[in-house]
Amino acid sequence: MHKDVKEILYTQEEITQKCKELGKQITHDYQGKDVILIGLLKGSVPFLAELSKYIELDVTFDYMDVSSYEGVESRTITIKKDIDQDVSGKELLLVEDILDTGKTLSTVKAMFEERGAASVEIVTMLDKKEGRTYPIEAKYVGYEIPNAFVIGFGLDFNEKYRNLPYVGILKEECYQ
Ligand code: IMP
Repeated sequence: MHKDVKEILYTQEEITQKCKELGKQITHDYQGKDVILIGLLKGSVPFLAELSKYIELDVTFDYMDVSSYEGVESRTITIKKDIDQDVSGKELLLVEDILDTGKTLSTVKAMFEERGAASVEIVTMLDKKEGRTYPIEAKYVGYEIPNAFVIGFGLDFNEKYRNLPYVGILKEECYQ
């Protein structure tokens, strides 16, 4: 275990098992449909890679990089990298490492709906429900977690720890 990790929440084996369950459910729900998996960079990459192995459909991958900014009267997101294709009439599944306040995903979801997608749903590895300030829920959730700062399996602190093969709680002394 990495020296900065206080406790491992989910091991690689547990995450793989969870991806198998989610993949099976997604396969069932989207029978006969083509799905675009849209990963939000950078944190979703390991989860998207693992989950997609267990989705038995003709899926394609795309990636988006956004940063969000809360203004006085409105919230805006800056698209640092947009996806590469037209989404009108397509089934989209937004893939996220963690859903917290919901700010990023509620804005991105609304944007794809405006672009004319047939459906826009969310699959997230982790859900911090207590942190939610925007009215948005994921259709598929790996694990609901309490309000702790977690790292690994794509999740970072100052860009570090994304490569850890498990999800763990970061020691308080690392960010205080
Ligand atoms: P939201 O827009 O507040 O839902 O933000 C979700 C994003 O916040 C995630 O994609 C992560 O980048 C980041 N985030 C939220 N909680 C954590 C955490 O515990 N560890 C690492 N990143 C987090």
